[in-house]
Amino acid sequence: EKDGHDWFMRKEIFEQPESVAAALLGRHTERGQLMLDEVRIDDEALRDIDRIIVVGCGTAAYAGQVAKYAIEHWTRIPVEVELAHEFRYRDPILTRNTLVVAISQSGETADTLMAIRHARAQRAKVLAICNTNGATIPRESDAVIYTHAGPEIGVASTKGFLTQMVACYLLGLYLAQLRGTKFGDEIAAVVRDLDRIPAQVQQVLDGAQQVYDLAQELLDAKVVLFLGRHAGYPVAMEGALKLKELAYIHAEGFAAGELKHGPIALIEPGLPVFCVVPPRGRDQLHDKMVSAIQEIRARGARTIVLAEAGDTTVADVADELIELPQVPVLLQPLVATVPLQLFACELATLMGHDVDQPRNLAKSVTVE
Ligand code: BG6
Repeated sequence: EKDGHDWFMRKEIFEQPESVAAALLGRHTERGQLMLDEVRIDDEALRDIDRIIVVGCGTAAYAGQVAKYAIEHWTRIPVEVELAHEFRYRDPILTRNTLVVAISQSGETADTLMAIRHARAQRAKVLAICNTNGATIPRESDAVIYTHAGPEIGVASTKGFLTQMVACYLLGLYLAQLRGTKFGDEIAAVVRDLDRIPAQVQQVLDGAQQVYDLAQELLDAKVVLFLGRHAGYPVAMEGALKLKELAYIHAEGFAAGELKHGPIALIEPGLPVFCVVPPRGRDQLHDKMVSAIQEIRARGARTIVLAEAGDTTVADVADELIELPQVPVLLQPLVATVPLQLFACELATLMGHDVDQPRNLAKSVTVE
């Protein structure tokens, strides 16, 4: 049942190329035209959406943070992301032109369910991104995009997360197509990039041994930090969450730009810091990330750098370099998350923890 793996989680990590392919299947034509037939909100109403609020808990909320970067960029619709359990208590401003996107692997998380009930009561439209057919959250939503990852058994979400991000990208591209904020050929180009992701995730998985060796070396770590920028920032937080959930160690994800405003005080000799480097591009994101890594390394941090293959600028600042396939910055979370999942799974295994059933956690939390 675990396909020869020790844990469901590891099996699910290794299934991700197929899961991502399944999430993409049948959602676009050869020419990149998108079709999302589970969206039962008519196109007219979708064209009028003037605000999007993404809600979710845990890993699902991080998928929402990635979605914000992509959907705003492609559609120019303002996107907010909120933890589902905080959402209704702040008395959010909702109108019939607000689209609330509820992300939930299980579709049963009570905090998220209560958030969408609140949203619908205020006449906002609700779209669920869910992995479980017929679960409560999609049943109570106006529309649903199923992630088609197949059952996720391990408590820590992996393929659920990657496919949630895929669904968010598809939603963003669909809205862009509908509203004409991106030209068809630009959308088709992103769709082609998405179609390459399953093979690229496989490449990352093929390098698992490097990550496993690293876990062995870092077995005594008491604290691990993660840094990212832009779409890599939620990846850093997700990497930290996986370590908290599985290895029970203090782990924190920071936006690299925030370092000098506080977190750099935490850096001490030998502290492991994972750094997700954005692809080299026209903006300064990449170079600023590299200088942040220089800063922490000068203070003794042990830097584990995730950067795209061929990026020679990181060689000098990386104690350990994990190469990622070349993908556009907005899609990088799909490949950059994978080594962090492998690391947490392996470290927890070496520590003797139950990876599939971490202490104090449940796969789906059906109480508020
Ligand atoms: C938590 C799980 O309780 O719920 C996390 O332990 C998960 O792994 C979170 O990310 C949200 O769950 P769901 O099913 O709503 O995506």
